[in-house]
Amino acid sequence: MATTVSLRPLREIKSEMRKLTYKFSNSSVDYFLAGGISHLKEIVDKDNAVVITDENVYNAHTKRFKNWNCIVLKPGEEYKTQATVDEVIDQLIEMEADRKTTLIGVGGGVITDITGYVASVYMRGITFGFIPTSLLAMVDASIGGKNGIDVGVYKNMVGIIRQPKFILHDMVFLNSLPQQEWENGFAEIIKHAAIKDARMFKELEERSLKHYQGRQKSICELVQSNAIIKTKVVQNDEFEKGERRLLNFGHTIGHALENQYELSHGQAIAIGMTYASVISQKILGFKEPGRVAALLLKYDLPTFADFDKQKVFEVLKMDKKRERKEMNYVLLEKIGKGVVKSIPLKQLEEIIQEL
Ligand SMILES: NC(=O)c1ccc[n+]([C@@H]2O[C@H](COP(=O)([O-])OP(=O)(O)OC[C@H]3O[C@@H](n4cnc5c(N)ncnc54)[C@H](O)[C@@H]3O)[C@@H](O)[C@H]2O)c1
Ligand SMILES: [Zn+2]
Repeated sequence: MATTVSLRPLREIKSEMRKLTYKFSNSSVDYFLAGGISHLKEIVDKDNAVVITDENVYNAHTKRFKNWNCIVLKPGEEYKTQATVDEVIDQLIEMEADRKTTLIGVGGGVITDITGYVASVYMRGITFGFIPTSLLAMVDASIGGKNGIDVGVYKNMVGIIRQPKFILHDMVFLNSLPQQEWENGFAEIIKHAAIKDARMFKELEERSLKHYQGRQKSICELVQSNAIIKTKVVQNDEFEKGERRLLNFGHTIGHALENQYELSHGQAIAIGMTYASVISQKILGFKEPGRVAALLLKYDLPTFADFDKQKVFEVLKMDKKRERKEMNYVLLEKIGKGVVKSIPLKQLEEIIQEL
């Protein structure tokens, strides 16, 4: 049984919902922040909507799904596959879902990625929205329009970029989120602060995981600021030609480690961010790698690790961010300012060997 957070439970704050609309290249997305699932019926027509969720979320919040048409999937990355997509499509056909149907992904990143993908191909594309329920999905996976599935060992191999119609936040879901998933979410939050927001970085240094888990207003505001940071980066570069690459901070070594060791995504990118900060010191004269490591440790994330440098470099060479003999590497100029630097592979290999 997973550990759950048993501090003061978060509530729905009905009066404080904020609606913001963000424009992307060919669509706009409504963000309903600090709202709650009870507002969903005002956003979509219940009779023409199908909720897609997973067993963990459904079992922990069954009452909140009452009267909604639901498809409940098995939880976990191993189900983020075409077989699950086919299963969902069969169920949609059985439910007589048509072009007017809206799909709503209520879950972590696996559910939002699958929902966006199914909605993009079912009847050549129907409307979809998200209620992210993991911290990681709230600050990262639900934002930016990347939807898709894994194929064998290849993560996110098949998919499409298409924006949801809306994203609705409901902090109540976090009451059942396992501790490890809080840490995964905080790894991406620290990433956002490191590349974009020195003030948030400082706030994180002054506070702690316990502080955020117990305080409705703090976690709500932190989630909103993070969702907005990612949204703005994506708005500037929806199809990942430049600025969006900053979101890969910590993910180059991180992905290579995740492939080879038993690490969660958050742990892998925490180690990746630590080393990217050290590389930033070597290449750009970044002065504060110690501050990055200290913050990660404060949020129970790993930093320096003993790993097979040569093996990691071999995997890393195959990364999507490689362009011929150079690697686009995300580095820090200072806290709050990430930059993309092209590093020749030969130099990168030497640096990694020295780490
Ligand atoms: N599309 C994007 O831009 C993007 C960005 C980052 C990550 N992702 C994808 O997101 C996925 C990771 O997201 P994730 O960490 O949310 O994974 P996940 O969906 O697997 O959720 C993690 C675990 O937490 C459970 N869970 C979620 N919300 C819960 C809640 N409120 N209460 C209890 N349990 C809950 C899930 O059932 C699961 O077991 C990966 O597949 C990744 O590729 C996509
Ligand atoms: Zn990530």
